[in-house]
Amino acid sequence: MIARIKKNEELFSGYFLVDVEAEGIGRDKTGRSASPGQFYMLKVGLSTDPLLRRPLSLHRKLSDDSVRFLYRQAGRGTALLSRLIPGDEVDVLGPLGNGFPIPAGIKHALIVGGGIGIAPLMALADYVSGERKDITAVAFIGGRSREYVLGAEEFREKGIETFMATEDGSLGTMGLITHILDEYINEHKHKGTGGWAIYSCGPHPMLISVAALAKKHGIKNYTSMESNMACGIGACMGCVISVLDREHGSSIYKKVCDDGPVFDAEDVVW
Ligand SMILES: Cc1cc2nc3c(=O)[nH]c(=O)nc-3n(C[C@H](O)[C@H](O)[C@H](O)COP(=O)(O)OP(=O)(O)OC[C@H]3O[C@@H](n4cnc5c(N)ncnc54)[C@H](O)[C@@H]3O)c2cc1C
Ligand code: FES
Repeated sequence: MIARIKKNEELFSGYFLVDVEAEGIGRDKTGRSASPGQFYMLKVGLSTDPLLRRPLSLHRKLSDDSVRFLYRQAGRGTALLSRLIPGDEVDVLGPLGNGFPIPAGIKHALIVGGGIGIAPLMALADYVSGERKDITAVAFIGGRSREYVLGAEEFREKGIETFMATEDGSLGTMGLITHILDEYINEHKHKGTGGWAIYSCGPHPMLISVAALAKKHGIKNYTSMESNMACGIGACMGCVISVLDREHGSSIYKKVCDDGPVFDAEDVVW
Protein backbone atom coordinates (compact mmCIF):
# COMPACT_ATOMS: atom_id res chain seq x y z
CA MET A 1 0.00 0.00 0.00
CA ILE A 2 1.09 3.56 -0.55
CA ALA A 3 1.35 5.41 2.74
CA ARG A 4 2.08 9.03 3.53
CA ILE A 5 4.66 10.36 5.95
CA LYS A 6 2.97 12.36 8.68
CA LYS A 7 6.04 13.15 10.77
CA ASN A 8 9.70 12.14 10.56
CA GLU A 9 11.80 13.47 13.41
CA GLU A 10 15.35 12.89 14.56
CA LEU A 11 15.38 11.98 18.26
CA PHE A 12 19.14 12.27 18.48
CA SER A 13 22.00 11.67 16.10
CA GLY A 14 20.90 8.99 13.62
CA TYR A 15 17.78 7.82 15.51
CA PHE A 16 14.37 8.77 14.14
CA LEU A 17 10.64 8.42 14.80
CA VAL A 18 8.45 8.30 11.71
CA ASP A 19 4.65 8.32 11.64
CA VAL A 20 3.12 6.79 8.54
CA GLU A 21 -0.52 7.00 7.51
CA ALA A 22 -2.63 4.92 5.13
CA GLU A 23 -6.12 3.56 5.34
CA GLY A 24 -6.05 0.27 7.25
CA ILE A 25 -2.26 0.26 7.81
CA GLY A 26 -2.83 -0.82 11.43
CA ARG A 27 -4.65 -3.99 10.38
CA ASP A 28 -3.65 -7.04 8.38
CA LYS A 29 -5.39 -8.38 5.28
CA THR A 30 -7.87 -10.31 7.41
CA GLY A 31 -8.72 -7.20 9.42
CA ARG A 32 -6.81 -8.28 12.54
CA SER A 33 -5.08 -5.52 14.44
CA ALA A 34 -1.29 -5.28 14.01
CA SER A 35 0.25 -6.85 17.09
CA PRO A 36 3.44 -6.15 19.05
CA GLY A 37 6.45 -7.84 17.46
CA GLN A 38 5.06 -7.68 13.93
CA PHE A 39 6.88 -5.62 11.34
CA TYR A 40 6.42 -3.81 8.05
CA MET A 41 8.54 -3.75 4.90
CA LEU A 42 9.09 -0.18 3.72
CA LYS A 43 10.26 0.71 0.27
CA VAL A 44 11.55 4.22 0.39
CA GLY A 45 10.45 6.28 -2.58
CA LEU A 46 8.41 4.87 -5.40
CA SER A 47 11.34 4.25 -7.72
CA THR A 48 13.30 0.99 -7.80
CA ASP A 49 16.21 2.57 -5.92
CA PRO A 50 16.92 1.13 -3.39
CA LEU A 51 15.44 -2.02 -4.80
CA LEU A 52 14.69 -3.92 -1.66
CA ARG A 53 12.27 -3.10 1.06
CA ARG A 54 13.60 -2.58 4.56
CA PRO A 55 11.96 -4.22 7.63
CA LEU A 56 10.92 -2.03 10.56
CA SER A 57 9.03 -3.18 13.63
CA LEU A 58 5.74 -1.78 14.71
CA HIS A 59 6.78 0.69 17.42
CA ARG A 60 3.35 2.12 18.15
CA LYS A 61 -0.04 1.62 16.62
CA LEU A 62 -1.50 5.13 16.69
CA SER A 63 -4.81 4.16 15.06
CA ASP A 64 -6.10 1.76 12.42
CA ASP A 65 -4.79 4.22 9.84
CA SER A 66 -1.53 5.31 11.41
CA VAL A 67 1.58 3.56 12.77
CA ARG A 68 4.88 4.75 14.20
CA PHE A 69 8.35 3.33 13.62
CA LEU A 70 11.53 3.96 15.57
CA TYR A 71 14.58 3.51 13.39
CA ARG A 72 18.29 3.86 13.39
CA GLN A 73 20.00 5.15 10.28
CA ALA A 74 22.06 2.09 9.39
CA GLY A 75 22.78 2.43 5.68
CA ARG A 76 21.39 3.63 2.40
CA GLY A 77 17.72 2.61 2.84
CA THR A 78 17.28 4.13 6.27
CA ALA A 79 19.27 7.21 5.20
CA LEU A 80 16.78 7.75 2.36
CA LEU A 81 13.91 7.22 4.80
CA SER A 82 15.38 9.84 7.13
CA ARG A 83 15.20 12.44 4.37
CA LEU A 84 11.47 12.02 3.77
CA ILE A 85 9.27 14.89 4.90
CA PRO A 86 5.56 15.11 5.77
CA GLY A 87 3.46 14.43 2.70
CA ASP A 88 6.06 12.20 1.00
CA GLU A 89 4.95 8.72 -0.02
CA VAL A 90 6.37 5.36 1.00
CA ASP A 91 5.37 1.91 -0.23
CA VAL A 92 4.54 -0.27 2.79
CA LEU A 93 3.83 -3.98 3.17
CA GLY A 94 2.43 -5.31 6.41
CA PRO A 95 1.86 -5.97 9.21
CA LEU A 96 3.97 -9.12 8.74
CA GLY A 97 5.31 -11.91 10.93
CA ASN A 98 4.01 -13.48 14.09
CA GLY A 99 4.43 -11.05 16.98
CA PHE A 100 5.09 -11.74 20.66
CA PRO A 101 2.99 -14.59 22.02
CA ILE A 102 1.25 -14.14 25.35
CA PRO A 103 0.25 -17.67 26.30
CA ALA A 104 -2.57 -18.22 28.78
CA GLY A 105 -1.38 -17.89 32.35
CA ILE A 106 1.24 -15.19 31.79
CA LYS A 107 1.10 -12.79 34.74
CA HIS A 108 4.54 -11.22 34.78
CA ALA A 109 6.25 -9.92 31.64
CA LEU A 110 9.93 -9.02 31.87
CA ILE A 111 10.64 -6.78 28.88
CA VAL A 112 14.32 -6.59 28.00
CA GLY A 113 15.58 -4.22 25.32
CA GLY A 114 18.96 -3.01 24.17
CA GLY A 115 19.38 0.12 22.02
CA ILE A 116 17.12 0.14 18.96
CA GLY A 117 15.75 -3.21 20.16
CA ILE A 118 13.24 -1.21 22.16
CA ALA A 119 11.35 -0.54 18.90
CA PRO A 120 8.97 -3.55 19.01
CA LEU A 121 8.97 -3.76 22.82
CA MET A 122 7.24 -0.37 23.08
CA ALA A 123 4.28 -1.82 21.19
CA LEU A 124 4.26 -4.71 23.67
CA ALA A 125 4.35 -2.27 26.59
CA ASP A 126 1.46 -0.30 25.04
CA TYR A 127 -0.55 -3.49 24.69
CA VAL A 128 0.14 -4.91 28.15
CA SER A 129 -0.42 -1.62 30.00
CA GLY A 130 -3.52 -0.83 27.93
CA GLU A 131 -5.33 -4.09 27.32
CA ARG A 132 -3.76 -6.62 29.69
CA LYS A 133 -3.78 -4.99 33.07
CA ASP A 134 -3.81 -8.51 34.56
CA ILE A 135 -0.12 -8.74 33.52
CA THR A 136 2.55 -6.90 35.51
CA ALA A 137 5.31 -5.71 33.23
CA VAL A 138 8.81 -4.77 34.34
CA ALA A 139 11.24 -3.27 31.84
CA PHE A 140 15.02 -3.59 31.60
CA ILE A 141 16.55 -1.18 29.13
CA GLY A 142 20.22 -1.08 28.27
CA GLY A 143 22.41 1.02 26.04
CA ARG A 144 25.99 2.01 25.41
CA SER A 145 25.40 5.41 27.04
CA ARG A 146 22.42 7.49 28.17
CA GLU A 147 21.23 8.57 24.70
CA TYR A 148 20.97 4.92 23.60
CA VAL A 149 18.59 4.05 26.45
CA LEU A 150 15.44 4.57 24.44
CA GLY A 151 11.86 4.62 25.65
CA ALA A 152 12.49 4.54 29.42
CA GLU A 153 10.37 7.66 30.07
CA GLU A 154 7.45 6.22 28.09
CA PHE A 155 7.65 2.91 29.93
CA ARG A 156 7.52 4.74 33.27
CA GLU A 157 4.63 6.91 32.11
CA LYS A 158 2.70 3.68 31.52
CA GLY A 159 3.32 2.74 35.16
CA ILE A 160 5.90 0.09 34.22
CA GLU A 161 8.74 -0.33 36.70
CA THR A 162 11.82 0.34 34.58
CA PHE A 163 15.46 -0.49 35.24
CA MET A 164 18.22 1.02 33.16
CA ALA A 165 21.88 0.23 32.62
CA THR A 166 24.57 1.84 30.52
CA GLU A 167 28.01 0.53 29.70
CA ASP A 168 29.63 3.88 30.64
CA GLY A 169 27.45 4.50 33.72
CA SER A 170 25.97 7.73 32.27
CA LEU A 171 22.42 6.55 33.14
CA GLY A 172 21.12 3.89 35.52
CA THR A 173 23.50 1.20 36.71
CA MET A 174 26.92 0.96 35.10
CA GLY A 175 27.25 -2.34 33.25
CA LEU A 176 25.06 -4.66 31.28
CA ILE A 177 21.29 -4.76 31.62
CA THR A 178 21.42 -8.56 31.77
CA HIS A 179 23.11 -8.28 35.20
CA ILE A 180 20.18 -6.23 36.46
CA LEU A 181 17.78 -8.77 35.00
CA ASP A 182 19.59 -11.62 36.73
CA GLU A 183 19.58 -9.75 40.05
CA TYR A 184 15.88 -8.99 39.70
CA ILE A 185 15.02 -12.62 39.04
CA ASN A 186 17.19 -13.78 41.95
CA GLU A 187 15.48 -11.30 44.28
CA HIS A 188 11.94 -12.18 43.26
CA LYS A 189 12.01 -15.83 42.28
CA HIS A 190 11.19 -17.06 45.81
CA LYS A 191 7.58 -16.02 45.02
CA GLY A 192 7.67 -18.48 42.12
CA THR A 193 8.32 -17.83 38.45
CA GLY A 194 5.27 -19.66 37.11
CA GLY A 195 3.44 -17.28 34.79
CA TRP A 196 6.62 -15.30 34.02
CA ALA A 197 7.88 -14.67 30.51
CA ILE A 198 10.83 -12.70 29.20
CA TYR A 199 10.43 -10.70 25.99
CA SER A 200 13.70 -9.59 24.43
CA CYS A 201 14.97 -7.61 21.47
CA GLY A 202 18.36 -6.04 20.96
CA PRO A 203 21.94 -6.79 19.95
CA HIS A 204 22.71 -10.46 19.31
CA PRO A 205 25.11 -10.89 22.29
CA MET A 206 22.45 -9.46 24.61
CA LEU A 207 19.84 -11.88 23.25
CA ILE A 208 22.22 -14.79 23.84
CA SER A 209 22.76 -13.71 27.47
CA VAL A 210 19.04 -13.23 28.06
CA ALA A 211 18.30 -16.65 26.57
CA ALA A 212 20.93 -18.22 28.86
CA LEU A 213 19.49 -16.46 31.92
CA ALA A 214 15.98 -17.53 31.02
CA LYS A 215 17.15 -21.12 30.68
CA LYS A 216 19.04 -20.96 33.98
CA HIS A 217 15.95 -19.69 35.82
CA GLY A 218 13.47 -21.88 33.91
CA ILE A 219 11.57 -18.92 32.45
CA LYS A 220 10.16 -18.80 28.91
CA ASN A 221 11.94 -16.31 26.68
CA TYR A 222 10.42 -14.98 23.47
CA THR A 223 13.03 -13.21 21.41
CA SER A 224 12.70 -11.04 18.34
CA MET A 225 15.35 -12.05 15.81
CA GLU A 226 16.89 -10.00 13.02
CA SER A 227 18.17 -11.08 9.68
CA ASN A 228 18.71 -9.44 6.32
CA MET A 229 15.44 -9.56 4.42
CA ALA A 230 14.64 -9.23 0.77
CA CYS A 231 10.98 -10.11 0.29
CA GLY A 232 9.60 -10.19 3.86
CA ILE A 233 6.85 -12.61 2.89
CA GLY A 234 8.51 -16.03 2.92
CA ALA A 235 9.35 -16.25 -0.78
CA CYS A 236 13.12 -15.79 -1.09
CA MET A 237 14.63 -17.80 1.84
CA GLY A 238 17.03 -14.90 2.34
CA CYS A 239 16.28 -14.50 6.03
CA VAL A 240 16.63 -18.03 7.44
CA ILE A 241 18.12 -18.85 10.83
CA SER A 242 18.87 -22.23 12.42
CA VAL A 243 16.28 -23.46 14.84
CA LEU A 244 16.08 -26.67 16.83
CA ASP A 245 13.74 -29.31 15.47
CA ARG A 246 12.66 -30.80 18.79
CA GLU A 247 11.01 -33.81 17.21
CA HIS A 248 14.16 -35.01 15.41
CA GLY A 249 16.77 -33.46 17.70
CA SER A 250 18.42 -31.73 14.75
CA SER A 251 18.43 -28.17 13.48
CA ILE A 252 16.33 -26.82 10.64
CA TYR A 253 16.05 -23.49 8.88
CA LYS A 254 13.21 -21.16 9.72
CA LYS A 255 12.33 -17.91 8.03
CA VAL A 256 12.59 -14.87 10.26
CA CYS A 257 9.98 -13.04 8.18
CA ASP A 258 7.40 -15.78 8.06
CA ASP A 259 8.03 -18.12 11.01
CA GLY A 260 9.24 -15.20 13.17
CA PRO A 261 10.53 -12.65 13.81
CA VAL A 262 9.68 -13.80 17.34
CA PHE A 263 11.00 -17.22 18.36
CA ASP A 264 11.10 -19.28 21.52
CA ALA A 265 14.71 -18.53 22.56
CA GLU A 266 15.21 -22.15 23.56
CA ASP A 267 14.66 -23.18 19.95
CA VAL A 268 17.18 -20.77 18.44
CA VAL A 269 20.57 -22.24 17.55
CA TRP A 270 22.63 -19.32 18.80
C1 LIG B 1 12.01 -8.07 11.59
C2 LIG B 1 12.94 -6.88 11.65
C3 LIG B 1 12.53 -5.74 12.29
C4 LIG B 1 13.39 -4.64 12.35
N1 LIG B 1 12.96 -3.53 13.00
C5 LIG B 1 13.75 -2.45 13.07
C6 LIG B 1 13.29 -1.27 13.72
O1 LIG B 1 12.18 -1.20 14.23
N2 LIG B 1 14.14 -0.20 13.75
C7 LIG B 1 15.38 -0.26 13.16
O2 LIG B 1 16.12 0.73 13.21
N3 LIG B 1 15.83 -1.35 12.54
C8 LIG B 1 15.04 -2.45 12.46
N4 LIG B 1 15.48 -3.56 11.80
C9 LIG B 1 16.80 -3.49 11.12
C10 LIG B 1 16.64 -2.71 9.82
O3 LIG B 1 15.76 -3.40 8.98
C11 LIG B 1 17.99 -2.53 9.13
O4 LIG B 1 18.79 -1.67 9.91
C12 LIG B 1 17.79 -1.89 7.76
O5 LIG B 1 17.15 -2.81 6.89
C13 LIG B 1 19.10 -1.48 7.17
O6 LIG B 1 18.85 -0.98 5.85
P1 LIG B 1 19.78 0.13 5.19
O7 LIG B 1 19.50 0.15 3.73
O8 LIG B 1 19.64 1.41 5.93
O9 LIG B 1 21.20 -0.40 5.49
P2 LIG B 1 22.12 -1.43 4.59
O10 LIG B 1 22.91 -0.51 3.71
O11 LIG B 1 21.23 -2.41 3.96
O12 LIG B 1 22.94 -2.02 5.71
C14 LIG B 1 23.69 -1.22 6.63
C15 LIG B 1 24.17 -2.13 7.76
O13 LIG B 1 23.05 -2.69 8.46
C16 LIG B 1 23.09 -4.11 8.40
N5 LIG B 1 21.72 -4.61 8.18
C17 LIG B 1 21.01 -4.54 7.04
N6 LIG B 1 19.81 -5.11 7.18
C18 LIG B 1 19.77 -5.59 8.44
C19 LIG B 1 18.82 -6.31 9.19
N7 LIG B 1 17.66 -6.70 8.69
N8 LIG B 1 19.13 -6.64 10.45
C20 LIG B 1 20.30 -6.29 10.99
N9 LIG B 1 21.25 -5.61 10.32
C21 LIG B 1 20.99 -5.27 9.08
C22 LIG B 1 23.98 -4.46 7.24
O14 LIG B 1 24.62 -5.72 7.43
C23 LIG B 1 24.99 -3.32 7.26
O15 LIG B 1 26.00 -3.55 8.20
C24 LIG B 1 14.67 -4.68 11.76
C25 LIG B 1 15.07 -5.85 11.08
C26 LIG B 1 14.24 -6.94 11.05
C27 LIG B 1 14.67 -8.17 10.35
S1 FES C 1 12.84 -12.28 3.51
FE1 FES C 1 12.30 -13.54 1.85
S2 FES C 1 11.85 -15.43 2.85
FE2 FES C 1 12.18 -14.05 4.49
